[in-house]
Amino acid sequence: MYLRLNDGLIMNYEISKTAALEDRRPDFDKMMSEVREGLLATPKTLPCKYFYDEKGSDLFQQICDLPEYYLTRTETSLLTSIASEIAELIGPGSQMIEYGTGSSKKMRIVLSALIEPESFTAVDISEKHLLTATKALSRAFPHLKVHAVTADFAKPFTVPAMTGTGLRVGFFPGSTIGNVTHEEVIEFLKGTRKIVGPMGVMLIGVDLKKDVRILRAAYNDSQGLTAAFNMNLLARLNRDLGTTFNLTQFSHDAVYDAELGRVEMHLVSHTEQTVTLGRDVIFFRKGETIHTENSYKYGQNQFKALSARAGYKSLMVWTDPNACFGIFFLQAEA
Ligand code: AVI
Repeated sequence: MYLRLNDGLIMNYEISKTAALEDRRPDFDKMMSEVREGLLATPKTLPCKYFYDEKGSDLFQQICDLPEYYLTRTETSLLTSIASEIAELIGPGSQMIEYGTGSSKKMRIVLSALIEPESFTAVDISEKHLLTATKALSRAFPHLKVHAVTADFAKPFTVPAMTGTGLRVGFFPGSTIGNVTHEEVIEFLKGTRKIVGPMGVMLIGVDLKKDVRILRAAYNDSQGLTAAFNMNLLARLNRDLGTTFNLTQFSHDAVYDAELGRVEMHLVSHTEQTVTLGRDVIFFRKGETIHTENSYKYGQNQFKALSARAGYKSLMVWTDPNACFGIFFLQAEA
């Protein structure tokens, strides 16, 4: 289907919803049972996917512009400097697929450098972001076939048939891959092989291990935006599930666990207190935490080894001059 817009028909644009989308949107029952399970567990946890309501997504965008949050800036300037090398490796007629499109700012950098790319398929759970980004892209690249797919890419999904003969390339920037466990990375990458096919490519942005002081500052920023982002989760649960979190009685904390190679975000209870969730009463000790997010930081060889377990060979890794962030060019085995 083509989309008719006020200013005319966009001929190179198509939108599809995967059947799988419907059961992936966080409905009330699913959210309730996941949150309940996490809050009744020891230690207490909450799924980080629930950060991203409207306010949380807005706060995350603001975090990306923070001076301490080096990730977005570093990856964007690295991509700009290597875009022509990427284009050369990929060759003409490529069929690009972006996982978690957001604003598509980074995809634009790559698309501008590519040699006559054939198609671009954007996959995102947020229909709003997806439509805004892909409509703008189809206008900016009128010869590109643009598909928008609303789906949660963390689970299996399908994309419209790709008919071109160029390389299929999955693009997954932002180090979002750092927010899942090593086993989940392997499962995710195995899933991408079904989309990119034999000899297909994954181009992935990965945050690398570094001085702990840089990490601490990035996740405990001086403007308190990361704290607001973390605390917003409790406000969301109060609004969407009717929990009774007293927001003045919790605070944000982020620590780097060097052994596990990850930044952990927590919400710390200031006092002994109880919180109600449906019929359950959840008890908090003073100082007890809810573990809300992991952000894994990788060594280059460590990430290559994980990719190999999913059937990918690492052909190239680019890093910024301080080796803070890496962009991996992985090719699926035949
Ligand atoms: C989305 N993701 C890569 C971010 C990260 O750095 O792990 C989420 C985030 N958490 C705190 N600040 C940003």
